[in-house]
Amino acid sequence: MTHISSRFKEVTMEEIPDITSDMVDKLRKLNINSVYQLAVQSPLELAMVISNAYFDVESAGKLIANARKILTENEILSKDFSTADDLLEKRSKISKYTTGSSNFDTFLNGGFETQSITEIAGEFGSGKSQICHTLCAAAITLMENDSLDANDNGSKQRSPGSIIFIDTENTFRANRVYQIAEQKNLEPEDILKRIYHCNVYSSEQLELLVDDLPKSIEQYNAKLVVVDSIISLHRAEFSGRGTLAERQQRLGKMLNKLRRYADIYNIAVVITNQVISYADGSHPGFDYMKAAGGNIVAHGSTYRIFLRKSGKNRVATMEDSPSQPYQRVKFSISESGIQDVTSYKTEEENSGW
Ligand code: GTP
Ligand code: MG
Repeated sequence: MTHISSRFKEVTMEEIPDITSDMVDKLRKLNINSVYQLAVQSPLELAMVISNAYFDVESAGKLIANARKILTENEILSKDFSTADDLLEKRSKISKYTTGSSNFDTFLNGGFETQSITEIAGEFGSGKSQICHTLCAAAITLMENDSLDANDNGSKQRSPGSIIFIDTENTFRANRVYQIAEQKNLEPEDILKRIYHCNVYSSEQLELLVDDLPKSIEQYNAKLVVVDSIISLHRAEFSGRGTLAERQQRLGKMLNKLRRYADIYNIAVVITNQVISYADGSHPGFDYMKAAGGNIVAHGSTYRIFLRKSGKNRVATMEDSPSQPYQRVKFSISESGIQDVTSYKTEEENSGW
């Protein structure tokens, strides 16, 4: 039986302005079962699946706007136009999920944020998956008490949050999360029970999974979604020049959806990205590295972190952030996941890295 977390039952679809019971039935048949799930739809796609002569993109747009309106009225979503103090209030609902490495958390301004997509890019072995594993172990304890749900008899109960881990490279290792949790004196058995892992083998499967993610977010009361990596399948399947535009369009759609989910469900989304090497001619024979996926991925992410190897350590650079300066942090990878190697220093202080 599908259990929908009571966190998402506060407003029912019947309460959406101007909605008919016939439309509610249609939506349920399409497996759209909550106001949240309707609010994250795109008008074009909804109009296509409903495929009714009287229901065009405009009607779909109105319906979705009404779903958003009722979430806004219930102060779950911010208004289309919000005053800056409302925005500040919305930001006060943000949770930050830490890695347990205090330098890395300072570098992130407190941790991986909800309502945002954080991209971690870097070459093979640079530590992208290790950061994701460390985050899985460390973040769960912070999700323990941050949602207060009404249970069936109306009283409030603490509902533990969970993590959805979408693995396109088959590199998630439960025993690694167990080891990290154990080293951090956390409770590995409890942590593993709250990580919902899914292996994905094709770009199409990934896109379908992202389409359906709202149901899983509600079902598992997820607070963090990790996609490791967002690009590998699309990169492998759309390799020719002629297919680049389609690949970018499909990546863009997925990122758009993930951004909507992050915002509406107040969840953190962490994606990893690969790199491409390029030569700019200034240093003959030397290749630079940059994140793959071009502008689509760059603009789709709220924060972009670039990793590189530095001897036996790693250096993370905050390449793009709406609120933080360009900065770097050094870390290492050990039995307890990612960990500090030096006391925290600013970019200028570390200019020799
Ligand atoms: P790709 O997925 O290949 O692009 O790389 P990635 O950036 O995800 O690399 P990943 O996070 O898997 O880092 C791999 C590196 O982490 C290895 O080369 C090891 O140096 C280090 N590592 C992984 N597990 C452990 C561990 O249990 N202990 C220690 N000390 N290091 C580890
Ligand atoms: Mg990896």
